[in-house]
Order: sequence, then C-alpha cells, then structure tokens
Amino acid sequence: MPTDLDPLLFGEIDPPQRLLMGPGPINAHPRVLRAMSADLLGQFDPEMTGYMNQVMALYRPIFGTRNQWTMLVDGTARAGIEAALVSMVAPGDVVLVVNFGRFGLLLTEILTRIGAVIETVDAPWGEVVPLDRIAEAIARCHPKVVATIHGDTSTTMAQPLDGFGELCRQAGALSYVDATATIGGMPLAADRWGVDVVTGGLQKCMGGPSGSAPITISDRAAEHLGRRRHIEQGIRRDDIVEGQGPRIQSNYFDLAMVMDYWSDKRLNHHTEATSMLYAARECARIVLSEGLEARYARHAAAGRAMTAGLRAMGLKVFGDDAYRMTNVTGVFIPAGVDGEAVRMAMRDQFEIEIGTAFGPLQGQIWRIGAMGYNAMKHKVLLTLAALEACLRMEGFRLPLGDAVPAALEAWRA
Ligand SMILES: Cc1ncc(COP(=O)(O)O)c(C=O)c1O
Repeated sequence: MPTDLDPLLFGEIDPPQRLLMGPGPINAHPRVLRAMSADLLGQFDPEMTGYMNQVMALYRPIFGTRNQWTMLVDGTARAGIEAALVSMVAPGDVVLVVNFGRFGLLLTEILTRIGAVIETVDAPWGEVVPLDRIAEAIARCHPKVVATIHGDTSTTMAQPLDGFGELCRQAGALSYVDATATIGGMPLAADRWGVDVVTGGLQKCMGGPSGSAPITISDRAAEHLGRRRHIEQGIRRDDIVEGQGPRIQSNYFDLAMVMDYWSDKRLNHHTEATSMLYAARECARIVLSEGLEARYARHAAAGRAMTAGLRAMGLKVFGDDAYRMTNVTGVFIPAGVDGEAVRMAMRDQFEIEIGTAFGPLQGQIWRIGAMGYNAMKHKVLLTLAALEACLRMEGFRLPLGDAVPAALEAWRA
C-alpha cells in the first residue's frame, strides 16, 4: 500500500526535558528507567519467577503488611482498582463508597458497571469524611464491601484510615483502599488499618512510570476470592479446586487467577509485563533503601515548603490544612489571572509542568506536586521561582522574592 509517511518514521523518541511537578505522572528515577531497559526473560524462567517473588517481598513493607498476596496487576493504577472491585464485588452486592473527590466518583463508576448496589457517604471537595459518619453509613446500609481513596489527588486531601478497616470488619464487610497517590510518599499501614485490599501505582511517589499497579490482599479477602475462583478452559488442573461462588466477571482482572499465576502453582494467566515488573522492583528497592520514614519525611518537607512558598506569594492554598496530602498541593488561581496562560508559560519558559484540576475545581485551582524523584528541595524552589515569574508576566502583582526563602525555611522546619 502506498504511504506518504516520512521514511524516518517521525524520528527517534527524544522528548524535551520537562520537570513534571503536577499531580502525577512525575519524572521517573533514572535507575528505574535503566532497569526497564534490561533484557527480557521467559515468564516461567526461574530468574523471572525469582524476580516475581522478590517483588512480593519488597512491596509488603511498603504497604505496611504481612499479607502473602502482595503482587502486581499489569496496567495503570486504574487496572488495580478495577481488579480489586470486580473481584471483591458481585452484581447486586451492596457497596459503600467513601467519596470526597473525583477518584471516589471513579469507584462508583466502576461499581455501576459491575452491577453493585451503591451507597455513598460524601464530603465536599476539600474535606474528608469523619470516621463516625462512615460508621453511621455502614450501620444504615449493611454493605458487603466499603471502598475509599487514601489520597485523592483531585482535591489533595488524605482520608484518615486509622480504625477504618476494623470498623468494616466488625460489620462483616470487606474493605478496599485506593492508595495510588500516596504509596511510597505517605505512610501506608494496611495491617494496622485492618483493611483487606489496597492498590497503588508507580507514577507518583514511587518514582516510576505508570503501567503497573501493586496490590495487597488480606487472607480474609483471599478466601473470599477463592470462593469465586473459576479457572479458564485449557489450563484447568485436577489439583486446583474451583469455588462455588459467583464467577468474577472479568477475565483479565480476575484476581483469583492472577494469584494462581503469582503462586507456586504458576498457573498461566496473562504474560507478566516484564519491563514493568523490573520497574516496580527497582522503584521498591529505591524506596526501601532510602528508608520509609526518611522518604515520608522528605515528602512532608516538600509539601510544607511548597505550601509556605505559595502562601508567601500571597496565594490561597486549597482545602483543609489538617488533612492535606504532603505530595500534592492545590492553590487557587488568583482572580483576573488566566490559569492556562500561566501553565503554558511555566512549560514554555521553564520546562516545568504543573497540573490543572477536575470537576468543580477546574479553572479554580492548580495542583502542584512534589513527589518521588521530584520531592527534592531544588525542584520545589525552582517551581516556586518560575511560578512567581510567570504570574508577574501575566500581570499579577505579588511580593517578589519572598516565596523561595519561605520555602527554604519551611523545608528545614
Ligand atoms: C487517587 C488516584 N487513583 C487512581 C488514579 C488513576 O491512575 P492511572 O491513571 O494510573 O490509572 C489516579 C491518577 O491520577 C489517582 O490520583
């Protein structure tokens, strides 16, 4: 077939060197990019299954758990969410969603497709849902599963989860937490929270690219999934017992089958995304070698510095200070300023990306992240200095030169 495509096929990939200071994705750690370029292996090669077992071990402390079933779902963070929900919830099950932003709404969207009966307990964007309101909602609707977000990047709020899992267990419900935006940056304590399934992603505080979703599953939830286990034709084995419960509606996201693949049975399901597994493994090695506490402290310092710098510019920070995520900060676009023009100037003049917002906050706030490989002092300071210059170029009058010293002081605090 004739083609008028350039024989060089658009040239080699050579993206500009942008500093990604939005709500994610962020720049991946160079060690992660190097790991991704390592040679591929066959999926049952002992070296490969050894790496899979190492990934299971590496992610347990990151999730704050001893759960055996700690592994990866291949796909972006949303794949982890969808796998968790479609495997935990059968059509007609009552599910309570703790909703305080766009990603709580995503849970309801996915659950609608599953055919769940959805109840919600909501907070306005910029706030979180108090535990006693969650308790009341559980008592009212007797859910089989309660699902929430840990840090919702759409609002920059982090839902407190101490006592959350216990509350669900006492009511006989399983619990699910989306920790995509906090894993590796804010403390996760799956076991202490008593939650059953937690999922994450790599492209935020883990300092990797998107495309792999770490997941941890409690024994209790694993038993529940086992009751729904249905093994596809062509790979059934006499020694593996099928469950009697309703079949999980997705094949790709069937966690019972994914668990069989990650178990010693190595029952084939998908072909594990080898380069993403290398990435996930290297992200976790970097996180653990820095030390979890040190890493959380670094993210907290970055968040403090960003917030202090923005305030020193005379800008108003969005949301409840008491529940702010450390790794992404929402800030109001000042009246009379064209928010998109400022974002474009940040990109065109300084090669820095900051984020827009969704839903009711669109056009109202920018979301500025400092996470993973980018939660560094100099990157926060550069972003603040650039924002100050761009706001001035847009005609906004602000105290000049105050942001960087304020941020430096807050970093040290
Ligand atoms: C809290 C939260 N959950 C889920 C997602 C979806 O992640 P992904 O785009 O990797 O599917 C995001 C992405 O921004 C997020 O912030």
